[in-house]
Amino acid sequence: MSADNGEALNLEDWQFGSFSIDDLQLLDKDIMDRITITTPDDWHLHLRDGEALRTVVAHSAAQFARAIVMPNLTPPVITTALAQAYRKRILSAVPSQSLFDPLMTLYLTDNTDPDEIRRAKNSNIVLAAKYYPAGATTNSDSGVTDIGRCHAVLQAMADEGLPLLIHGEVTDPAIDVFDREKVFIERELIGIVERYPTLSIVLEHITTSHAAQFVASARPNVGATITAHHLLLNRNAIFQGGVRPHHYCLPVLKREEHRQALLKAAISGDPKFFLGTDSAPHERGTKECDGGCAGVYTAHAALEFYAEVFDAAGALDRLEGFASHHGADFYGVPRNTTRIALERSEWRVPGSFPYGEGQLVPLRAGATAAWKVVAS
Ligand code: DOR
Ligand code: ZN
Repeated sequence: MSADNGEALNLEDWQFGSFSIDDLQLLDKDIMDRITITTPDDWHLHLRDGEALRTVVAHSAAQFARAIVMPNLTPPVITTALAQAYRKRILSAVPSQSLFDPLMTLYLTDNTDPDEIRRAKNSNIVLAAKYYPAGATTNSDSGVTDIGRCHAVLQAMADEGLPLLIHGEVTDPAIDVFDREKVFIERELIGIVERYPTLSIVLEHITTSHAAQFVASARPNVGATITAHHLLLNRNAIFQGGVRPHHYCLPVLKREEHRQALLKAAISGDPKFFLGTDSAPHERGTKECDGGCAGVYTAHAALEFYAEVFDAAGALDRLEGFASHHGADFYGVPRNTTRIALERSEWRVPGSFPYGEGQLVPLRAGATAAWKVVAS
């Protein structure tokens, strides 16, 4: 069965919690021009470090109360002490009036010690640990070469209640790049889920119907983040009028039927699916070159992009659950008590932002977005 021929889809049979696909067609289609929701959180974010951090953290802090911060720096955040130091650097870059709270993660390696997991849990600032298969994506060279080596660490995470966040792609060069997520589920994820029944797992930035179906039918402590760019774009966007490096990310965009499957999951109301932008800034020159970096930058308009997608699907009433409730509930932290308002109002996205010594090209650069955050 191929990941791309649609045979595996069977979307009509899906059931998300108590909400079926048939119900989606009955959603209220009333036009709403303004919505107010609980301030959302971003459950998957790249903030980088140094000068670059200043630009991007202000964007996230303007829309989100909290964010799970990815640890794939150079060198990676492999200890609680490094996470604490990184958190301080983030906080010193947050605009002064903001209460933005960065939630830290540890980067797992073949040599992570189970004691480090206990230290992380006791720190109260590290909320999860990230499994990057070595070589799967940006700054993942120090990642895990064989998850079998991490048994004691995963058991410690299950025992301590520290969630495992997964970049779910195999690195086997024989596997087609568009099938890497599906094959990861078959070769690794099913085994991890079975072996550690009490371990909370987030399959990050899902991109396929296979992932959405797997998560929807897994036990309750298996969830998934969904990015705005995987909801907005299919793989045609990478080749629209020529090669479009700013649409290149990992896992790579998939075909339209997979985007549709992600959309159904996102608007389903199923609490297993929640907002994680995977906003991943790279300086312009490192993307517009041979061997350019993977990553789409969306933090400048993240909530607006999600609003646009939910609106187009007639599901604005589901945005608050996806953006502001499900992730907090999954991680077992309180929901935010503040609120944020968005209006249907076209605005032009800047062509670029300053980024350290260079420039950052955001998603929709120079074009318009349909919704705007107006008050928070
Ligand atoms: O597109 C991506 N960019 N995917 C990842 O997994 C990593 C991220 C980054 O750090 O740039
Ligand atoms: Zn990421």
